[in-house]
Amino acid sequence: MAVREIVPDIFSVGALDFDRRLFDSLIPLPHGTSYNAYLVKGKKKTALIDTVDPTRELELVTNLVKARVDTIDYLIVNHAEQDHSGSLPMIAELFPQAKIVVNEKCLDMVTHLLDISRERCMVIKDRETLDLGGKTLEFLITPWVHWPETMLTYAREDRILFSCDLFGSHIAESTLLVNDLKEVYHAAKRYYAEIMMPFRSSIREHLEKVGALDIAMVAPSHGPMYAQPPLILDAYRDWTGDQVKNEVVIPYVSMHGSTEKMVQHLTEALIERGIRVHPFNLVATDIGELAMALVDAATVVIGAPTVIFGPHPQAVYATYLANLLRPKTRFVSIIGSYGWGGTTVETLKGMLTRIQPELLDPVYIKGAPGVQDLRNLDILADTIARKHREIGALTQAK
Ligand code: FEO
Repeated sequence: MAVREIVPDIFSVGALDFDRRLFDSLIPLPHGTSYNAYLVKGKKKTALIDTVDPTRELELVTNLVKARVDTIDYLIVNHAEQDHSGSLPMIAELFPQAKIVVNEKCLDMVTHLLDISRERCMVIKDRETLDLGGKTLEFLITPWVHWPETMLTYAREDRILFSCDLFGSHIAESTLLVNDLKEVYHAAKRYYAEIMMPFRSSIREHLEKVGALDIAMVAPSHGPMYAQPPLILDAYRDWTGDQVKNEVVIPYVSMHGSTEKMVQHLTEALIERGIRVHPFNLVATDIGELAMALVDAATVVIGAPTVIFGPHPQAVYATYLANLLRPKTRFVSIIGSYGWGGTTVETLKGMLTRIQPELLDPVYIKGAPGVQDLRNLDILADTIARKHREIGALTQAK
């Protein structure tokens, strides 16, 4: 990524990664990503906020040279995950006088993950400040966005919030600043769903802390910066809020067509009742899109046939993932078909330990769906519509 001056003496020096297609060997990156790092030059001292993924460390060094950096006094570690800290050992070696600024939890992580010596580290507390000379950095310790050691750094005079992974988006976008959330909304929501959603309640607390700051710009560790902070702050308030939408997500898999027929019938029945439906055939689903659909939906219906004696492994994977992501889903049901028996419904129900939704009566049948089975799916659709009405979701736009 080219070096760009954001405001006088604050530079973007990170790297764009147009080619990366998978994160954590799990999350698809259809639009690549970026590893943002920021250089803050005070009159007395210079600080580097985060580094980049180790695969891009040469780009970071080149950018520091282009930004005419002859010394770095502080290496600020907002987050110990390697896509931001992986180049820290190399940069620390290049600038041996630099202090590594971490919070207590992060100290433990950088010493274990990166073999950084404790002697190099300067441990800061929540709201502590660092005076660089005309530029004051304030640290806000904000655990669980999305690791336990995460913190944000606020440049007081310039009113820039370096928000670490929070408010990020996995997109290799060469435009530094977005003014219209539409340009990045899909990527930002997808990122929230994949990475931040499990920590919804912590993030809500941090949003209050962040909301009390006077912020001119939000500068996350992935994706573009926000020149109008309310755009992304309000989106996060919406996503992390308790309000669910009149939507049903149906992750499903079918072996010989019975479960698929049931999904199709239920989908139509729900649409007829004014409910928005998102079916995902798990054989071909991008799990990022599935995660995104889970952000707002009031209900999830898992469509799973029985393989041997239990749920199809694709359905197990989707259920495990949904449980891990901890969406605000209020209602869950299970539909599908078996050949000779099994424990599919009990097994899938037992996996929902972190969501704890209200379980609606499953429609789980032997063989292909008959007339009564389809009627039972209509009854399930009626129940879902009633539940949505009771929580005020069905009054929303159809
Ligand atoms: Fe972008 Fe949690 O690392």
